[in-house]
Amino acid sequence: MNTRLVSQAMKGLVCDVLIVGAAQRGKEGKDMALSPAAREVDQLLDGLISSMYANGEFKGTVGETSQIYTMGKLAARRVIVVGLGNVEKLQSHTFRRASGIAVRFAQSRGAKRLALALDTQEPEIDAAEIVQATVEGALLGAYRFTKYLTTQTTGQGVEDMLFVSKDAESKALQEAFRRGTIMAEGANFARDMVNEQPAVLTPSEMARRASAMAREFGLECRVLDRPQMEELGMGGLLGVARGSAEPPKFIILRYRGAPQSKEEIALVGKGITFDSGGLSLKPAAGMESMKGDMGGAAAVIGAMQIIADLKPKVNVLGLVPTTENMPDGASYHPGDVLRLMNGKTIEIVNTDAEGRLALADALSYAVKEGCSPIIDIATLTGACMVALGAKRAGLFCNNDELRDELMEAGEFAGEKFWPMPIDEDYQENIKSHIADIKQTGGRYGGAINAAKILEHFIGEASWAHLDIAGTEFIEGKQAYMEPGATAFGARALAGLVLKRAEK
Ligand code: BES
Ligand code: ZN
Ligand code: ZN
Repeated sequence: MNTRLVSQAMKGLVCDVLIVGAAQRGKEGKDMALSPAAREVDQLLDGLISSMYANGEFKGTVGETSQIYTMGKLAARRVIVVGLGNVEKLQSHTFRRASGIAVRFAQSRGAKRLALALDTQEPEIDAAEIVQATVEGALLGAYRFTKYLTTQTTGQGVEDMLFVSKDAESKALQEAFRRGTIMAEGANFARDMVNEQPAVLTPSEMARRASAMAREFGLECRVLDRPQMEELGMGGLLGVARGSAEPPKFIILRYRGAPQSKEEIALVGKGITFDSGGLSLKPAAGMESMKGDMGGAAAVIGAMQIIADLKPKVNVLGLVPTTENMPDGASYHPGDVLRLMNGKTIEIVNTDAEGRLALADALSYAVKEGCSPIIDIATLTGACMVALGAKRAGLFCNNDELRDELMEAGEFAGEKFWPMPIDEDYQENIKSHIADIKQTGGRYGGAINAAKILEHFIGEASWAHLDIAGTEFIEGKQAYMEPGATAFGARALAGLVLKRAEK
């Protein structure tokens, strides 16, 4: 895919489809609010866009699309007008959605060369933010996982994307353009891993992809095998791995952007490449989606790629404990007691609550390395999905400042979180008679109980836990993504790291 940010008049843009934005204004949103680029196109088309508004054929709601053939009035063969919603509610995320929707629309109708001129005169939104969001939306929208399709399908062929802005030469916009491109590439790299079939994306394969990426982007990478995990006492990860024919891996990615500083941020991702539930086997319905139980790992590896590419002045350690969770004669049992890396013991009651065990060892590893803050991201509980649905991920945090930073990074990336409690009162739920803690705390408040378990492994670090069970995979089509992997969290985590480096 070729992408460029240029400054050019609408009339001469040579492309299959030119995309312009059109908003609405006024109390009931009935009035037209064309962006500067849309106004230019409207004039070239003898007022066709204005008349669409006047006749009520186009209202300018977010994501609404209308396709116009230009009949030679512009060099572009077609124009797609995409709605931006009410100007008063305009945010940078609106541009991400609109550009993704328009690109998907154009791509599904065979367009190969696109030009996007999404701009606004509203003073509240920074032009650089618009550029970044537009590029992200377009590249996330154009993504397809077509590896296993043997018949030629339309809608996968965008080759060129020209982003048009009147200030294209400005350094700030060129930087935003680069940031958006790199963010989307990191997320799409993560999506490829989540969408991959579990027979292919094994722990070993994830380790191979992570280390190939590390080589390409100049990150340090180490992959621990079973003997080294045994030496470190990673009884949680090893316990879960017992039922699998695939060897577990512990992936360590290191980025040193501030070699003089001792501070290091840890990003930890749950990497269960297939979660069958183990002996506490899951029901068959929907089990195929458990290939996505490494969505947290993918988000971390994707974020590490983005960070390595953008080179902020901070240190970041990316950790991925990865294994399958399978039933077998050698599987760990409900009733077993595992000893985890920090020495704590845990009574197993349900082998399907495997994520917290693998994560606990990785959190202990981050503590041992002296990292703070430690941020983990995991498809951890169905309970979180019940609580927040598919729009926001759960955010559990022991530090107010870190919570605010994550909330902001999530809003900015369009990967939104919602704060959840971790009060001491919940500790009661995970008391065990035969071990230090019990693995699960009953049905109610399941997402919180899981977070309370993790809290036992974070030492004195400031820590956040992101439960992305509901957001990492989409069933139906959504604004700027095809069904399947979303890489939820990859861009937000990278964004948080970039923000920290600016401080
Ligand atoms: N991977 C699942 C959680 C999950 C559910 C992710 C749905 C994505 C979509 C996790 O390992 C799990 O099975 N958790 C159990 C915990 C329970 C046994 C305490 C759950 O949520 O039911
Ligand atoms: Zn499970
Ligand atoms: Zn799981």
